[in-house]
Amino acid sequence: MISKTEGESAPSRSAAPDARTKPFALLACEPRVAESVFSAEAWQRLGACVRIDPQRCVRRFDDELLAPDLAACEILITGWGSPRLDAAALARMPRLRHIVHTAGTVKLFLDPAVLASGVVVSSAAEANAIPVAEYTLAAVILGAKRAFTLADRLRAGRVDEAGTHRDLGGLPWLGTRGLTVGVIGASRIGVRVVRLVRTVLDARVLLHDPYTDAGLTADPGVRRVGLDALLRGSEVVTVHAPLTAETTGLLGARELALMPDGAVLVNTARGGLVDTDALRAQVLSGRLDAVLDVTEPEPLPAGDGLFGAPNAFLTPHIAGALGNETARLGDLAVDEVERIAAGRGPRHQVDAASFGRIA
Ligand SMILES: NC(=O)c1ccc[n+]([C@@H]2O[C@H](COP(=O)([O-])OP(=O)(O)OC[C@H]3O[C@@H](n4cnc5c(N)ncnc54)[C@H](O)[C@@H]3O)[C@@H](O)[C@H]2O)c1
Repeated sequence: MISKTEGESAPSRSAAPDARTKPFALLACEPRVAESVFSAEAWQRLGACVRIDPQRCVRRFDDELLAPDLAACEILITGWGSPRLDAAALARMPRLRHIVHTAGTVKLFLDPAVLASGVVVSSAAEANAIPVAEYTLAAVILGAKRAFTLADRLRAGRVDEAGTHRDLGGLPWLGTRGLTVGVIGASRIGVRVVRLVRTVLDARVLLHDPYTDAGLTADPGVRRVGLDALLRGSEVVTVHAPLTAETTGLLGARELALMPDGAVLVNTARGGLVDTDALRAQVLSGRLDAVLDVTEPEPLPAGDGLFGAPNAFLTPHIAGALGNETARLGDLAVDEVERIAAGRGPRHQVDAASFGRIA
């Protein structure tokens, strides 16, 4: 442990970590989370740059048994299931300079007071964005192919007039050629979705974000527009904004009614961005299709009409990192810890100034 001499004042939170000795790091998350995000190689890399006990996981910041560890902690590695970290917890960690989060949003456990204190927080949201963007691309393609409706027809044994098992009757349009995809939110995920759509598909993008275009409009196939214009002009709309006071109910009855007949709504962001009752009405009438990885409430109650709708495809919040994808989160976190231990700043710092409008 880095010792503190009698009477020595706590180092300022903005000071660079001591590059001569390995910083002292602590885990604060569910133990099984640390096991799943860090591969054997990741543990080796961590052990090479910080002093850390893989068996020790803080579950409560007021745990007196851990008080000496907390007092020495310079880097806190958090993740799913981290205990709430507020000013009182911070007071127990006077040497803390960095929090490295091995998951996406830090809002679930981090009091904004911690960001204001000067502790540098970084998150693995960028690594979590990869599978969400991949899922979204798949949803755009399968939605445009009417795969969910047609799979339902196949299951039901429907046949077309010629008797073939591919009954395309009554579909408003089908296919990805020349598609217009509306992307709401030039977020980490939104940026990846725009790039994938523009690279993989013959499609143009309408982008809506009140705060930034994230440089995406340098591509002539991407046009930044207001929300109403996006909804009116897109055959597939995909939502990638965070749930904030401003975005709650962003897509209500009025907005959904602006979407053209047969349009597909993809939501991998948060259920609260969309008015579920208004969407259910549009889907059950057959006017809109939906691919929903998130809903409000989540999950929907058993028997909700959306579950039985052939033109809706619902998944249980699986777009983000799961299974073999979680190692990406750990690898990004280890990269950050290595940078910090070497006296450099993290690459994925959470920006205190935009905390209110990010995920
Ligand atoms: N389904 C999953 O498993 C899963 C996994 C990760 C993230 N998510 C969700 O995906 C969404 C995007 O996450 P992220 O990390 O890419 O976000 P982010 O924090 O990187 O970006 C937020 C973006 O939204 C923009 N924004 C804010 N208000 C807006 C508004 N009113 N209209 C349009 N854009 C607005 C901001 O300007 C910013 O560009 C979030 O809702 C997040 O919770 C879901």
